[in-house]
Amino acid sequence: MAAGGLFVTFEGGEGAGKSTQIRRLAEALRARGRSVLITREPGGSAGAEAVRHVLLSGAAERFGIRMEALLFAAARNDHVESVIGPAITSGQTVLCDRFMDSSRVYQGITGNLPQPLIDALERVAVHGLRPDLTIVLDLPASLGLARVRQRLGQTADGESDKSGLDRFEKEELDTHEKRREAFLDIAAADPARCRVVDAAQDEARVAADVLLAFDEVVAGRGSARARRSGEGGA
Ligand code: TYD
Repeated sequence: MAAGGLFVTFEGGEGAGKSTQIRRLAEALRARGRSVLITREPGGSAGAEAVRHVLLSGAAERFGIRMEALLFAAARNDHVESVIGPAITSGQTVLCDRFMDSSRVYQGITGNLPQPLIDALERVAVHGLRPDLTIVLDLPASLGLARVRQRLGQTADGESDKSGLDRFEKEELDTHEKRREAFLDIAAADPARCRVVDAAQDEARVAADVLLAFDEVVAGRGSARARRSGEGGA
């Protein structure tokens, strides 16, 4: 790993504002002279983008949650090997919209897949690469879903009008609440890596909190860099 290379992931439920906040953090970091790469999951590399459509259209849903989990892992592995890893090695700061915690939550907690399977897929997919910092953008699920519907020009009570929502956004409110709790549990269990930011605040306040978290966790460490788990790959 080249000195200065950093890996920051953004996690949270639907409508938490991840892409907006990633853009804002990228601007702030570029203004400081950092070279920043923005990417996202599922996707972010040619192979992973091919899998993205299969997952988000719901085309893989009928093959079961296990199949979906394997596809997310396959996409993640391609993304790590061909985009994220090389960018970090070349000293870039990589900001990624969702990463391994989304699989832990969506496929593990609310998908009910056994923890050992999720752990095994994670080891294969990330190949030892762990985020230096994970920002969990936290807000009530009802607020997040209302934002998503607003973005799509739909009404918050448009139960039957679901066109435009992806496979995961269509799920029930209590499922989204469970995911919120699961992201908070992950953050509580790994405080060295994770910072929870209140995403219900106005955009500028959220951005300020995100930058503060970055400075505390990453810049504060001086020579922080993506950590290899030491397993040498699965
Ligand atoms: P997307 O439209 O990219 O955006 P957003 O993050 O704004 O919701 O949707 C990605 C969807 O895929 C999202 O509903 C979460 C889901 N997902 C998983 O279920 N598992 C994963 O490992 C990842 C990365 C995403």
